[in-house]
Amino acid sequence: MRTQIVAGNWKMNCNLDESQHLLNALNQKNFTTTDVEVIVAPPYTNLYAAHQSLKDSPIKLSSQNLNENEKGAYTGEISPAMLKSVGVEYVIIGHSERRVIYKETDHLLAKKATTAAKHNLKIMFCIGEVLEQRKEGRHFEIVKEQLEKGLFHLSATEMKNVVIAYEPVWAIGTGETASPEQAQEMHQYIRKVIADHYTIKIGEQTSILYGGSVKPNNAKEIFAKEDVDGGLIGGASLDADSFADIVMSF
Ligand code: PGA
Repeated sequence: MRTQIVAGNWKMNCNLDESQHLLNALNQKNFTTTDVEVIVAPPYTNLYAAHQSLKDSPIKLSSQNLNENEKGAYTGEISPAMLKSVGVEYVIIGHSERRVIYKETDHLLAKKATTAAKHNLKIMFCIGEVLEQRKEGRHFEIVKEQLEKGLFHLSATEMKNVVIAYEPVWAIGTGETASPEQAQEMHQYIRKVIADHYTIKIGEQTSILYGGSVKPNNAKEIFAKEDVDGGLIGGASLDADSFADIVMSF
């Protein structure tokens, strides 16, 4: 049985007050009644306070990024040890906004994955094609390449702390979702690629989340697919009711 996960990526939203407000609202939701692992990824500046607020909560804490170096002269960056020191358990690596806007390459993401694994941070590794690549029928090839170049240098043991998030870039923040069938088709493929590189068992055990315009009204249908183990939620994670509805869609 794979872990079912719903993670909220808050992106660059919520100042400290807004963040505490949202966390208080989430703490009122009864996530203890579900087996779904619930994760939130607030901006860096809110992580410490979030950790305090979530002390008695089943909700886990993630950062949205990390720097690949241990420490040093990297103005404006955040190290893995800093994240650990404020209670972070997960890191998102390779979100398409990092890849596209901040030009993060597979090579850099591979280094980030190594650093995260070394510090025992669990990884949510994001992959996904842009619209043009899908139109050209290259989506499987692109996703495979992202896995091979960014992730597959990790050992089998390290892979146990990795969750994949398949996020077709054309579906992020656009209101357009992949159909449940498109999600299932890609998730099944990703699982096979992982199984071929590692073992069938690791393929079977790796949670693969879908991301891209997941909302309370479409989550159930997407999560019902065999190889979809949850979601990475952007916009809808900023509203406690919507996010809780998505969690409860399992
Ligand atoms: P969205 O974002 O749910 O707003 O489409 C998803 C993501 O970027 O992880």
